[in-house]
Amino acid sequence: MARIIGFVCSKGGSGKSTVVANLGVALARLGRRVVIVDCDLTMANLSLLLGVEDHKTTLHDVLAGEAPLSKAICRGPEGVRIVPGGIPLEGIQKAKLDRLKRVIDQLARQFDLVLIDVPSGLDRDALTVMGLLREAIIVVTPDLPALSNALKTKLVCERLDVKLLGVILTRLKEGVSELSESEVSGILDLPVLAVIPEDRAVRHSSAIGEPVVVREARSPSAREFKRFALELRPFTRARE
Ligand SMILES: Nc1ncnc2c1ncn2[C@@H]1O[C@H](COP(=O)(O)OP(=O)(O)OP(=O)(O)O)[C@@H](O)[C@H]1O
Ligand SMILES: [Mg+2]
Repeated sequence: MARIIGFVCSKGGSGKSTVVANLGVALARLGRRVVIVDCDLTMANLSLLLGVEDHKTTLHDVLAGEAPLSKAICRGPEGVRIVPGGIPLEGIQKAKLDRLKRVIDQLARQFDLVLIDVPSGLDRDALTVMGLLREAIIVVTPDLPALSNALKTKLVCERLDVKLLGVILTRLKEGVSELSESEVSGILDLPVLAVIPEDRAVRHSSAIGEPVVVREARSPSAREFKRFALELRPFTRARE
């Protein structure tokens, strides 16, 4: 059975899209059959992070019933497959979120790993996307506002019966950050699966549209993305 893993946190800017883009590329490099999906319908940006913004057909077109899913799957760095969101505003109105379940089901038949960039907030769009996940990883920065958002996100996942795998702690500044790895793990009562340091290389990569695992493969953040990618097994036997 394919894994459908969402990267969640109601707080904006916690690093979700960066994690999805880099993990997707790192997994593709390992030869995994992986697709990453930009479900942030109002603020889609995965295509920009991966340098595939020229791709003509997007998830918005599929959700508008104007294109088949096959046309919206494009190829990114290291052969990772991406279903990008559309940038133009008019696409947002046309996209019907109730078509998303069918899209995800179709992807789960074609790929072993479906990684989903879940929008921030806990509005109807975010809840609809979260309801389609089998598993989720909370992406959080080491500060109290982010953590209180993460706690709410955790509760919502539990109510929606989404299995929480743990936390990816991002933008950690050793000795400077408000909270340590063990404090984050303790407060959320979840294992910390990966710790991505604050890394200038990430910001440069985002600006250029080339993920840090490709552009600066030896940087501290890229190494941690690649390490964690090795740990993400492609299949689950059954829902535990
Ligand atoms: N490890 C890191 N080191 C430095 N900068 C980072 C790191 N991770 C993310 N960033 C930067 O933080 C900002 C927010 O990251 P990102 O867009 O991935 O977050 P997000 O959770 O997807 O945000 P949104 O809620 O707006 O979708 C970006 O400018 C990104 O380049
Ligand atoms: Mg994002």
